[in-house]
Amino acid sequence: MIATSVDFRSDNCGAVAPELIEALVTANSGSALGYGGDALTATLQARFTELFEAPVQVFPVPTGTAANALALAAAATPFGAVYCSPEAHVYTSECNATGFFGGGTKLVPIAGEHGKVSAAALEASIAAAGVGLAHKSQPAAVNLVQATDRGAVYALDEVAAVSGVAHAHGLRVHMDGARFANALARLGCTPAQATWRSGVDVLSFGVTKNGGLLADAIVVFTPAAAVDLGFHLRRAGLVWSKMRFASAQILAYVADDLWLRLAGRANAAATELAAQLESLAGVELVAPVDANELFVDLAPAALSALEAEGFLFQRRGPRLARFVCRWDTSASDISALADGVRRQVTSR
Ligand SMILES: Cc1ncc(COP(=O)(O)O)c(C=O)c1O
Repeated sequence: MIATSVDFRSDNCGAVAPELIEALVTANSGSALGYGGDALTATLQARFTELFEAPVQVFPVPTGTAANALALAAAATPFGAVYCSPEAHVYTSECNATGFFGGGTKLVPIAGEHGKVSAAALEASIAAAGVGLAHKSQPAAVNLVQATDRGAVYALDEVAAVSGVAHAHGLRVHMDGARFANALARLGCTPAQATWRSGVDVLSFGVTKNGGLLADAIVVFTPAAAVDLGFHLRRAGLVWSKMRFASAQILAYVADDLWLRLAGRANAAATELAAQLESLAGVELVAPVDANELFVDLAPAALSALEAEGFLFQRRGPRLARFVCRWDTSASDISALADGVRRQVTSR
């Protein structure tokens, strides 16, 4: 029996990285213009242009849902269809914010493995969509989640293949990067290669899950894909007056590769946990552990027993558990959970 809770529920349950708190304290002096007219937000634009090796536009926002819904509202049309995985956060967990902020935009789930969208499924769905027919939603955009909601990471050629189909038919490519840092740490490529060089037009850049404090961002690579984004954001009440505090922490997040170091830790924790669980009979990983999440098939009684012992995690089905590792997941958390699972599968 473990004495205290070991928490694998979500990366949202983790602490804020101290470097970001320090950046907020440093920013907290003097006066600065509101709504992004401050020096830190100007620096953020310049820094992201350098980071992504392209003249991007950055819009700090409070949540990943705000980033996704507003990016898609700007990229699509009110009568447009946005293709996504049936596992995609926009589809399963955002109360159709995309449809709301898009003024009617429709999310259309299409096939793909482990939370991905397949290029072939996108091609087939567009072909069957009824392009030009006023009775049908018109293909407008595709949403890729990187890393996916099943813990997998798209290879660059997979992103490029989906983007190629999308662009051939005039669709915009949106990447939900709530766990972009985890994906990048895994891929080991540049931010540019992972995004616009692979055809991504607009990115929801996650910070919160990986050590941030109430801030994510939208990064626009293709200005034509988000012409009215500023208006959408303002009308939704998603433009902070004290923007400098969001910008300060996002700057600290990418300084000296902090974001990749944090994500690397979370990924390494997940890899270690996967290695320990994989070796146990009666435990099945149902998706690749490419980033910081594990989806594990276990007997319902074993899951209940783990909960009774105080382990915290999400149940995603009668036999399906999600375990999320974070930048602040400790080696003892991992061994405690691995030992707990081992006890369950060997005692049955
Ligand atoms: C893949 C993905 N996208 C977007 C979000 C939305 O983030 P938020 O809860 O900050 O709105 C989440 C949060 O769990 C997520 O997992």
